[in-house]
Amino acid sequence: MDAIEIKKELGQKAAQLIQSGMIVGLGTGSTAECFIHSLIHRVKTEKLSIQAVASSEHSAELARAGGVPVMDLNEAPHVDITVDGADEIDPQKRLIKGAGGALLREKILASASRSMVVLADESKLVSHLGKTKLPIEILSYGAAATRRHIEALGYKGSWRLGLFSEIRPTFRLPQQTENLFVTDNGHLIFDLTFSHPLQNPEQLHSELIQIPGVLETGFFFHLAKTILIGHSNGQIKQLS
Ligand code: A5P
Repeated sequence: MDAIEIKKELGQKAAQLIQSGMIVGLGTGSTAECFIHSLIHRVKTEKLSIQAVASSEHSAELARAGGVPVMDLNEAPHVDITVDGADEIDPQKRLIKGAGGALLREKILASASRSMVVLADESKLVSHLGKTKLPIEILSYGAAATRRHIEALGYKGSWRLGLFSEIRPTFRLPQQTENLFVTDNGHLIFDLTFSHPLQNPEQLHSELIQIPGVLETGFFFHLAKTILIGHSNGQIKQLS
């Protein structure tokens, strides 16, 4: 089974968890998209009556286009379940998220939800977090100074490039190109990379989040209640 088929299987499995009357949080990314497609299918074919709250404009548009009503998180009295993807998952169910640039809204939505279900293929399992990158959402105002604070702690990284939003930062970084990635919130993403696996991600998160201008890190601790891992042989196993 190839990567796309695994994501589709995961999306279908997670869509089975949704019941009529639920307020459903929609994650962002290719796996979350498969879930949204399966959800749309159930809404259309089984007349499932749900409302959704989305972690990105893209996921909201996708759901609305498929006939799923999407409300603002501020209007939702609660969120029953949020289904999302992940970039890295360690044995303690700690995650790194944000390769799609939606980490801040994803974390707010997951924190507001009664339960978070994470869907990923086995390539996302790591013994220690920090294998790929740690996205950090940063306010555009003073972003160059914020970067210097991060680097003074001894960490290395780079600005995410590629414009995916109509929102432009109100502050232009020195010597920066036109194609900085801008989040749905109008912020920038700084991707940290590491030469060694992370031994203490909680400590790193605490160091980073104290820096003025750092809005959120891609670490998700104690949020993923259920993690479903898709394997190339077609099996889906729940991480225990
Ligand atoms: C979006 O910001 C991310 O957190 C995604 O959920 C994560 O990158 C997983 O994406 P894929 O499902 O596309 O691998």
